[in-house]
Amino acid sequence: MIEQLDAIHQEALSAVAAVHDEPALEDYRIHFLGKKGTLTQAAAGMRHVAKEDKPAVGQKLNQVRQAITGLVEERAEALLAAKDATAAKGIDLTLPGRRPQEAALHPLTQVMHRGISALRQMGFTLAAGPEVETEFHCFDALNTPVDHPARNEKDTFYFADGHLLRTHTSSVQIRTMETTAPPVRIIAPGSAYRRDEIDATHLSVFSQMEGLYVAEDVSVGDLKGTLERLFHSIFGPKTPVRFRPHFFPFTEPSFEIDIKLQPKGQEARWIEIAGCGMVDPNVFAQICQSRGDDLYDPDKVTGFAFGLGLERLAMIMWGIPDIRWLIENDHRFLGQFAKA
Ligand code: DAH
Repeated sequence: MIEQLDAIHQEALSAVAAVHDEPALEDYRIHFLGKKGTLTQAAAGMRHVAKEDKPAVGQKLNQVRQAITGLVEERAEALLAAKDATAAKGIDLTLPGRRPQEAALHPLTQVMHRGISALRQMGFTLAAGPEVETEFHCFDALNTPVDHPARNEKDTFYFADGHLLRTHTSSVQIRTMETTAPPVRIIAPGSAYRRDEIDATHLSVFSQMEGLYVAEDVSVGDLKGTLERLFHSIFGPKTPVRFRPHFFPFTEPSFEIDIKLQPKGQEARWIEIAGCGMVDPNVFAQICQSRGDDLYDPDKVTGFAFGLGLERLAMIMWGIPDIRWLIENDHRFLGQFAKA
């Protein structure tokens, strides 16, 4: 029996060199240590060993079993190490790692934040209104006559029930005054909708920021000061700002605001950037009627309003030539704002 065990040990020692992969190692293990393996079978012979020889033979059996188990374990480790070595082949561990892509706020969000933070410092608070509006809030209350071109079906998205998608954020002026007693000083960023052909300067959904300040004795001077401050904080304190007379149904007098900028490599020029004006007394009269009180009596309060397009602002700020880039979500474009 001792010789038999030695022979098995020898066989195991010489066979192990031929084991080159995991399935072969498993076969090897089963061949010697499995239920019907040679060592297991030899162990069954213990029954026939004379009693006095049992301790010696038993010890031998254990030695051989341990030896073969050790061989299997060693081989398994060697195979694993070889596998790791192949996997790492061709990998240069000294190369620097890949940087994770830096996140960025969308350029529109960035300009909106700049505008909001400048106006917050001047005491304005955020307000909002619905995007699905009534004709009253979008037009009538804003002193816009029924035959005004902006009310045309060709320019405005109407629903069958007479509601519409607001064409500007100016409707938030009305919503705010209907529910809030003066003084009010609000900004309302949000989406507006127009049936425009989409091209490099037009989208059918775009973003505006509306402002409204109503109190006793608000003057054109307040309007000018506030808006100059706003554009100085966005474009720099030396940026020239000018107010050009214009017409809007809901303000009187009305102005368009231009700022003078020098696009890279070009001559400085005036660029139109916002509309504004003193709230028309007809608007206040309409609010008094809706509210059923005289808190907005045009003899008691005055105010100014302004509205600007955020896409346009972003385009001017970063020299973006095509408005569609702002909605295409192309990483090559958006990635450039990561460190702005
Ligand atoms: N609602 C105007 C537009 O969409 C912009 C505007 C002009 C808003 C003058 C105002 C304003 O509040 O006073 O073109």
